[in-house]
Amino acid sequence: LHVNWDVAAARKGGYEYFMLKEIHEQPEALRNTIAPRIVNGLPDFSEEGISDELLRNTKRIVITACGTAMHAGLVGRILIEKLTRIPVSVEIASEFRYANPILDENTLVITISQSGETADTLAALRLAKENGSMTLSIVNVKGSSIARESDFVLYTHAGPEIAVASTKAYTVQLSALYLFAFRFAFVKEKISQQKAQEYITLLEDTIDTVAYVLSYDTQIEAISQRLKSADDLFFIGRGLDYALSCEGSIKLKEITYIHSEAYAAGELKHGTISLITDNVPVIALATQADVYAKTISNVREVRSRGAKVILITNADVQVDASLCDHHIMLPPMEAEFTPFAAAVVLQYIAYYTAVARELNVDQPRNLAKSVTVE
Ligand code: G6P
Repeated sequence: LHVNWDVAAARKGGYEYFMLKEIHEQPEALRNTIAPRIVNGLPDFSEEGISDELLRNTKRIVITACGTAMHAGLVGRILIEKLTRIPVSVEIASEFRYANPILDENTLVITISQSGETADTLAALRLAKENGSMTLSIVNVKGSSIARESDFVLYTHAGPEIAVASTKAYTVQLSALYLFAFRFAFVKEKISQQKAQEYITLLEDTIDTVAYVLSYDTQIEAISQRLKSADDLFFIGRGLDYALSCEGSIKLKEITYIHSEAYAAGELKHGTISLITDNVPVIALATQADVYAKTISNVREVRSRGAKVILITNADVQVDASLCDHHIMLPPMEAEFTPFAAAVVLQYIAYYTAVARELNVDQPRNLAKSVTVE
């Protein structure tokens, strides 16, 4: 008997690329990361040894990471600051490590890393410890260097991520940061127990929302056909949408080789708008009600200069058809939780555009999954 088989193909479980498989694994990865940390409807880190005393003593947070993990930090900052009013900064690890940063024992330094081996993030962690700060890492790979050297570890349970472009590792990093934000706000008495439980329920609901957004593949595949010949592409948004824009842009450029930039929508007029001409695609995220009108006015500005607009909004808005070429509407959810759903949409845009360009999605040129050298 001769069986013709291929180990890599078998591991892809019927998907054309690992990246697509990993996009689809997100509901399960999120469930595995969130569920073990919920006790009586509240986020609980006693398994991780993260004491309430540590959180009470924390007066400031610095998040440091590289690439996609750093982009997760951008989302985490907004959420933690919103819920606690405790200052959070997000630092690119390769900058932080040489910047002689201001740190003390009341600063909690959070490092985020899928691999747990990124050289710059590890160096940033060591620097934080030398300066007397407490360190918490959010890491996917068990027993990795960053996990071993941190005071506390919050493991994400994404399972192995093979594709160079990170997908499920990012959304589980977000979920870990959300759990942390809710616990932190609760311990600091910024939110009630009931509010913390409500947030946890909404976080759990997000898992189903992400599963639902996986069904947007056909719609996004069709849009990607219209993006595949672009030379330049822009992502715009405000607040959480800007944080997501950064991630959408890196994902796209990593695997499609299309030049792309993420811009805070209000900053467009200070430079980038000069690059908006006929048919330049602009992916506009407008999921946040408090800045919706502002972002839409930026969409009008790029539209009037001929941009091809792909607009991503929440479920509860009426969009004037003349405003965009394509409208992607997320399922109904609270504004704070849209990053999970928007992330899937942006991953699909990058994935299907790379497939349309007939590129090797899982192994883009010049990039490595884990960067263990400087
Ligand atoms: C590399 C990968 C990125 C990743 C970054 C940080 O550049 O290609 O996908 O976001 O490293 O990796 P880490 O393992 O620390 O999350």
